[in-house]
Amino acid sequence: MILPMSDKSIESVLTENRVFPPSAEFAAQAHPNAQELSRLHSLASLGTEAFWAAQAREHLSWHKPFTQVLDSTNAPNYRWFADGQLNVSVNCLDVHLAAAGDRTAIIFEAEHGEVRRYSYAQLHAEICRFANGLRALGAKKGDRIIIYMPMLAEAIIAMQACARIGAIHSVVFGGFSAPSVRDRIDDAKARFVITADGGWRAGKVVELKTAADKALCEGGASVEHVIVLKHTGEDIPFKEGRDLWWHDVVAGQSTTCQPEWVGAEHPLFLLYTSGSTGKPKGVQHSSGGYLLGAKLTSKWVFDLKRDDVFWCTADIGWVTGHSYVTYGPLANGNTVVIYEGAPTFPDAGRFWKMIQDHKVTVFYTAPTAIRALMKLGDAIPESYDLSSLRLLGSVGEPINPEAWMWYHRVIGGERCPIVDTWWQTETGVIMISPVPGVTSTKPGSCTKPLPGVEADIVDEEGEPVKGLDAGGYLVIKKPWPSMLRTIWNDNARYIETYWAKFGNRYYVAGDSAHRDKDGYYWIMGRIDDVLNVAGHRLGTMEIESALVAHPRIAEAAVVGRPHDVKGESVFAFVVCKGERPTGDTKAFREELRNWVGEQLGAIAKPDDVRFADNLPKTRSGKIMRRLLRTIARGEEITQDISTLENPHIVEQLRGRE
Ligand code: WTA
Repeated sequence: MILPMSDKSIESVLTENRVFPPSAEFAAQAHPNAQELSRLHSLASLGTEAFWAAQAREHLSWHKPFTQVLDSTNAPNYRWFADGQLNVSVNCLDVHLAAAGDRTAIIFEAEHGEVRRYSYAQLHAEICRFANGLRALGAKKGDRIIIYMPMLAEAIIAMQACARIGAIHSVVFGGFSAPSVRDRIDDAKARFVITADGGWRAGKVVELKTAADKALCEGGASVEHVIVLKHTGEDIPFKEGRDLWWHDVVAGQSTTCQPEWVGAEHPLFLLYTSGSTGKPKGVQHSSGGYLLGAKLTSKWVFDLKRDDVFWCTADIGWVTGHSYVTYGPLANGNTVVIYEGAPTFPDAGRFWKMIQDHKVTVFYTAPTAIRALMKLGDAIPESYDLSSLRLLGSVGEPINPEAWMWYHRVIGGERCPIVDTWWQTETGVIMISPVPGVTSTKPGSCTKPLPGVEADIVDEEGEPVKGLDAGGYLVIKKPWPSMLRTIWNDNARYIETYWAKFGNRYYVAGDSAHRDKDGYYWIMGRIDDVLNVAGHRLGTMEIESALVAHPRIAEAAVVGRPHDVKGESVFAFVVCKGERPTGDTKAFREELRNWVGEQLGAIAKPDDVRFADNLPKTRSGKIMRRLLRTIARGEEITQDISTLENPHIVEQLRGRE
């Protein structure tokens, strides 16, 4: 059986076979060190349930301790620590106040350069004021609240305030457009939307409130109030009664707030993510298990200590911003840096200048950013003092050896370990990654599963692949506390998407992978129709639906094409109603690109649009996506096209006719 392996990884001109052990100096100060890690692994090998229970007792602060650990009664709808009660914001803030209230929790840098710091005590006070303000509006446990904000401290405050009152937040990435916001509001039946008058991106204002208004006029009937943070100071429309200013909501509110104690299984958040079919699905995460994973992995993978300054560049609109900005590092009492704007504003030295200015010690970003900045040459980073860095991380997509080596040499000064972390929105937290003081790294491999994670690679029958480097489905064989609980409103889809393939025995990640002689995992890419563009997940079907919503488009098929910076780019094959456009189609292609941008967000705009009279289909009517991928890459066609219903259109699709 040949798996539908992705063939989309960036071609590498560099083969890098060296292995990079951590320096003796790094290893000596790291936690976990080799001994601690082996103790964790051996504890986990005695039984994952007992292992996780011990971790949950040691690392979380419980209002009511749990007595049940794993409940598999309704597998694969697993439950963890279900009779325990806690509050996530108490675990991120209150627990630090006595000993470390003055410690910096957040260093915020605005795009125009203003820096604001929040100590744990200040952050706690702001979260309490906002939580009280939400309560005063009638918000309560279980309500869904959409957060559609720029990357500001207030975004973290909003998330934590929801957690404090037991409301379920659903953050929508600020780069998504009005229809995406509307779909999420409608699916979650949100009562509140929290947004800002706008955000800054590359010197321009992103009009979030305008997009939120548009979303609400086309749907969003469940929304009672829109809370608007004044940030850019732009004039914005304001709907009396519905819209409220953030500063009015918090005015006069107390800086303490009685937390809502929730069961460990109470949903902390929904985060919508793309799959191969239908609209984005609301991945539902728990309070107790999720927080445990976020806290532990922040410690294990980033070796975070009291004096560290941790900068994860992810926006809170993505899971990385949830687990490694808002929850994990704060649960550990660490200092996080957040930045509102574009990495290249006002110039390509911005990241490096911020590392220098804030003395960042641990830096976590995506390969796309590394590749984009690498292209601009070594001189830019070399003109900044990056000596504060001690550890680097990568997330969201495969990192090619060139980018890894550049990150290692130019940014890490050859002294910082690199943690290439594999995980997903659904896994909640990092699953496969080096432990930086212990694991020798190999450029391009996310190395080995963390303690308690039982990963494997299986064939079509669900049996472990035989032989070294044999590719197969990446699966997780045992439930883990931070796993998704379900898809909001659609448990059948949860089971179908992640479990059904192997009879509900394993969690099926949707990635293919292989393992080398040292047991290291190498992620090969998605096995489904999900693209990874600049580290962002996009479903081909979402883009196709957006295209066919255009009045002139009859049919569309979207595939990914390797891209040297973004990893993958969107390539759309389009069939128009009526005549196929010929001659100079530039303006029309641009119109379609912008159309997709308006429907979904700029990240989904196709880089290429090609017109044809028809799409290549088999006689049973299935679109031949592999063929389209070959064509998009400009490669020779090796597939058998004799079964094509309409072989003549291949020349059109290749742009030769
Ligand atoms: C991909 C992001 C290779 C993978 C945290 C996964 C990776 C999808 C890596 C999840 C990595 C993530 N190496 N591929 N280190 N990390 N991926 O949900 O295909 O936005 O399934 O979560 O990104 O993307 P998501």
